[in-house]
Amino acid sequence: MTATIIDGSAIAKAIRAEIAAEVAAMVEGGEAPPHLAVVLCGNDPASATYVRNKGRAAERAGIRFTLHTPGGDSTTSEILDLCARISEDPDVDGMLVQLPLPRQIDSAAVLEAVPAAKDADGFHPLNLGRLAAGAAARVVPGTPLGCMELLRRSGVPIAGSRAVVVGRSVIVGRPVALLLVNADATVTVCHSKTRDLAGVCREADILIAAIGRPGMITGEYVKPGAAVIDVGTSPVDGQLRGDVDRASVEPIAGWLTPVPGGVGPMTIAMLLRNTLALARAHRAAPAR
Ligand code: GUN
Repeated sequence: MTATIIDGSAIAKAIRAEIAAEVAAMVEGGEAPPHLAVVLCGNDPASATYVRNKGRAAERAGIRFTLHTPGGDSTTSEILDLCARISEDPDVDGMLVQLPLPRQIDSAAVLEAVPAAKDADGFHPLNLGRLAAGAAARVVPGTPLGCMELLRRSGVPIAGSRAVVVGRSVIVGRPVALLLVNADATVTVCHSKTRDLAGVCREADILIAAIGRPGMITGEYVKPGAAVIDVGTSPVDGQLRGDVDRASVEPIAGWLTPVPGGVGPMTIAMLLRNTLALARAHRAAPAR
């Protein structure tokens, strides 16, 4: 068997076009376009690239994009004040603070300063809690939602499947495990203390690799025919490398996402979807 390579770039492009059409209809109906505000604190080059890509994708979809760039020496209270000002702006529908933040800043406090009603990333504890409660969530973190959309649009059966998630981060591992449970998969979450990781992974019909260790998931970890979703994006020698060793996994898996061009483009498409959902809710019942 050779895996079907899931083209995340093409799927993300189709979703961005769907969103652009919905935004255009909104504007034709006399409404202002959705407005996303982003805080980029400091000079991390990878974060600057991600934010530039978010801005470009937003504007191409017709979404208004405002960037705030406080210095890397900002204090927690300065960032909290900035978040408060943005969140109180009635013209802003959705906002996010790009992570990671500089070390001196209390990231948990900042994530809670983004109100749930304007939380374009879905990282607010209330929104994560809604996901944990199995409730229909208005916003869901972009990367996990992107993984689910890739599975669905590729025709991978989810209900009743065995899913294994490697990595338990708040941004990816935990929320993707909740989404899989909510979609009726039987889910195991693995981490650095898991015994016989390869053996556990080999039980997976759906394997989500979100560890941040380039090439760690080799063919030995994969059940024949499994869907393997690679969330890793580690820079190695100037190129992005995933967590999956494509050369040994591709001959065994049923489906595989490449890096780059798999999950990455989906994260931004899902951010745009969250922004549109927040704008609709905000206009129906203005939080501010
Ligand atoms: N850093 C890496 N991924 C993300 C993301 O999805 N959102 C934010 N805010 N920061 C990130």
